[in-house]
Amino acid sequence: MNKKRIKKLLSLSTRGHHLATTPSRIDHALFMEAKQNLYDPEDNPSGSFPLNVAENQIMAPIIMAKLMTVLKNKEMPDWVMGYTHYLGHPEVRVTIARFMEQHLCACKIHPDTLGLSAGATAIVEVTAFLLANPGDVVVIPAPAYPMYTNDFGIKAGISRYDLQTHDNLQEIGTKAPVTPDLLERTWATLKTEGRCFKILLISSPDNPTGCRYEEDQLRALARWCIEHQVHMIVNEIYGLSLIDTTPTDHPSSAQGQDEYVSFAKIMEEFVSDYLHLWYAFSKDFGMSGLRCGVVYSLNKGFISGLQNINVPHMVSNMSQWMIKEMLSDDEFIKNYIEQNKKQITRSYQWVVAALKLLDVPFIPSRGGIFVWIDLSSYLDANKDDAEIALWMNIYKQTGVLLTPGKEFKHLQKGLFRMVYTAVSFDHLKVAVERLSAYLGQFKIR
Ligand SMILES: Cc1ncc(COP(=O)(O)O)c(C=O)c1O
Repeated sequence: MNKKRIKKLLSLSTRGHHLATTPSRIDHALFMEAKQNLYDPEDNPSGSFPLNVAENQIMAPIIMAKLMTVLKNKEMPDWVMGYTHYLGHPEVRVTIARFMEQHLCACKIHPDTLGLSAGATAIVEVTAFLLANPGDVVVIPAPAYPMYTNDFGIKAGISRYDLQTHDNLQEIGTKAPVTPDLLERTWATLKTEGRCFKILLISSPDNPTGCRYEEDQLRALARWCIEHQVHMIVNEIYGLSLIDTTPTDHPSSAQGQDEYVSFAKIMEEFVSDYLHLWYAFSKDFGMSGLRCGVVYSLNKGFISGLQNINVPHMVSNMSQWMIKEMLSDDEFIKNYIEQNKKQITRSYQWVVAALKLLDVPFIPSRGGIFVWIDLSSYLDANKDDAEIALWMNIYKQTGVLLTPGKEFKHLQKGLFRMVYTAVSFDHLKVAVERLSAYLGQFKIR
C-alpha cells in the first residue's frame, strides 16, 4: 500500500480501517469483472459465466414483465412518496402475510408478527442486533452462506461458529445433518471456552448443500433451543425454489422425503419467544435488486425493538408497493411458483447429468438454485491455496466463475458452489460444456 493511501486510512476508525482493507467476499471483484464480460453466442462468444452469486436470472424476466404491467396499469398510491410504518406499510404486511400463509408456510400468519427490511442481509443484521450481545455466538452448520460472518459480526459483534456436521459430502445424503445431540456437544464445547451459544441458524432449503430439514427434525431442534434459551432462526429465503424430486433417480424420492415443511408450522405449535423465520423475495422471485426481506416472529419484544432499529434498513416504498401489487395477483403467483420449480429443476438436472458423466461427487439438491460439488480429486494438494488455484484456473480457462468452498467454512478442501440459475438455460449448456471439457482432461487421474 502506498504512503498516501495509508495516511488516508489512518483518518478512519479502527473498524473503518478494517473494512477499508478487508473485502467482504473473495469472489466479488471477479463477479463484477465477469458481469462486464458476459457470454453471448453472437456478440461475445468467449465471454464469462458468473455462476458464483445466487441470482435467479431464469425467472427474472417474467417478474420484470409483471412489474412493468403494474407500473403501466395501476395508479400509484400517495403513501409511496412519503414515510411509512417502520416495519413496512400496513397494507403491504397484510398482503405478505396472506402470501406466506398460502404459499410458503401453510399456516396462519398475522401481519403484526412481520417486519420488512432491505433484503435478507438487513434482516440478518437487525435480528442479530436484537437477539444477542456482542461476543455471543451464532452456531451455523457448515458449509454455510459466507456473508453471515459480516452480517452478524460487523454491527452486532456476534461471532460465527461453524458446526462441522460431516467430513465429506458423500456422508450427508439429502437430509441436513443437525441433531439435538450435536447441539448439546456444541453447547458444552462453547461453555468450556467461556462463550455463550445464543443463536442457532439454519437454512432450509440450505445454501449451499440444497438439503432440507424434515418436520420432526425442525421440531426436535426447536424443542432443544427453547429448553436451552437459544434463539432458533430458520432462513427460508429459498423456500419456493424447490427441486422436483419425484424422478426416481433422485435419492430423496426413494426415502419419501418430498414434502417441504416451513418452520412456521413449528412456530405455531410451540408459540415461543425463541423461534423466528426469515424470508426474502431476492431468490424465489429473482428480484434481489428490489431489496425486500421479511422476519416473522411471535416475540412481541423483538417486533417492538425492530420498529426502532429498522429505520435505516427500511424497504423503499416503491419496492413495497410493486411487491404488494404482484402478490395480489393470485393466479400469477400460483403459476409463477410452478414455473419456477420446473425451470430450476431443468437447469439442475442438466448440471448434475454432466457431473455424473465426469464422476464428480455432488449433494443431490432438494431446493435452492445451486449445486455443491466436490472437485477435491482435481486439487494438487489438500490445501486452501490449491483450492484457490483450481478455482482461478477454471475461471481463466473456461470463463466459468464458481465460489470456492473455503468461503463456506467447511473443513474439506476442494468443494465449490455453482449457481445454475445465474444465466439462461441455453448459456448454462455452454458453461457446462466448457467446464466438462476442462475437467475431462484430467479424467485419467
Ligand atoms: C442464505 C442466504 N441468506 C441471505 C442472503 C442475502 O439475500 P438478500 O439479497 O435478500 O440480502 C442470501 C443471498 O445469497 C442467502 O443465500
